[in-house]
Amino acid sequence: MTIARPQVPAALGGYPRIRMRRNRQSPWIRRLVAESSLCVDDLIWPVFVVEGENRRESVLSMPGVERLSCDLLVQAVGEAAGLGVPAVAVFPFVEAALKTPDAREAINPDNLVCRAVRAIKAAFPAMGVICDAALDPFNSLGHDGIVCEGEVVNDATVAILCQQAIVQARAGCDIIAPSDMMDGRIGAIRDALDTEGFERVLIMSYAAKYASAFYGPFRDAVGSGGCLVGDKKSYQMDPANGLEALREVALDIAEGADMVMVKPGLPYLDVVRRVKEAFGMPTFAYQVSGEYAMLKAACLNGWLDYERALLEMLLSFKRAGADGVLTYAALDAARLLRGE
Ligand code: PBG
Repeated sequence: MTIARPQVPAALGGYPRIRMRRNRQSPWIRRLVAESSLCVDDLIWPVFVVEGENRRESVLSMPGVERLSCDLLVQAVGEAAGLGVPAVAVFPFVEAALKTPDAREAINPDNLVCRAVRAIKAAFPAMGVICDAALDPFNSLGHDGIVCEGEVVNDATVAILCQQAIVQARAGCDIIAPSDMMDGRIGAIRDALDTEGFERVLIMSYAAKYASAFYGPFRDAVGSGGCLVGDKKSYQMDPANGLEALREVALDIAEGADMVMVKPGLPYLDVVRRVKEAFGMPTFAYQVSGEYAMLKAACLNGWLDYERALLEMLLSFKRAGADGVLTYAALDAARLLRGE
């Protein structure tokens, strides 16, 4: 049975030539007019490393994400390399016995992150490796900086971050990513790296990092959540502020950041857009653990289609102006984008 075409309403009749749907009628034209696109080159895969051998632990609040011992991590990075993912970001789960108030394990050249970086670079020299500069995995109080008399102290922390960056660079890390939000750390780390001969090591600044509720699952994954005394609001940004993010980014660029990041991602797409427009720098968005957990939870309940929702979220970062995205779903996304 055919249905008779309804009468064209008068409102449309006045503009018979303008039909927005013409550009949407089939895949080939939709591909031609697409304003943004997502590809494997846009993905950075954050991974968690744990002590031991042949060890694999699920992170309960992040279904599908595992902490891996170095040997298994190298295999997993091999998989990422095979899929064409350009870089991984390595985060350590540090044993409680090694956490101290001075976070001294952070500057041990043979600590877990450094060993993981050496193993990855030995097996896959062409894979980009990113390390956080921040003390939280190593600090018994769970803070990104050193706590003195209840305060997270800035300059003493920056001095340790410089040493941390150097041990990581020496281990073979390509990009130091300060995620601590101390003032002045980008310039100080740049100087420290240059003085040690690491002028080719890049700095990706977590420039606009908000004091967010969406980091909870990450803190489970690195085992810092249980330790955290108080909150991080005295150094991470207030979610109410957008202009302040531009000032943070401007400072980090002036101090020598090669690229900047906005974090979390989805709740801060406006900030991604403003940062990209104001500075035109390589700009990254971090789809953080809580964003991943929300997506996974809804999908595991059958409430959302994982593949479609994931690609739509990742594309939204590109549309907002990001050059790339850190996502725990990087391998899933890479497979989907390659049509596998
Ligand atoms: C630590 C750090 C955090 C994240 C990356 N580096 C957590 C925090 O600041 O508490 C969050 C990543 C995520 O939630 O996925 N400085």
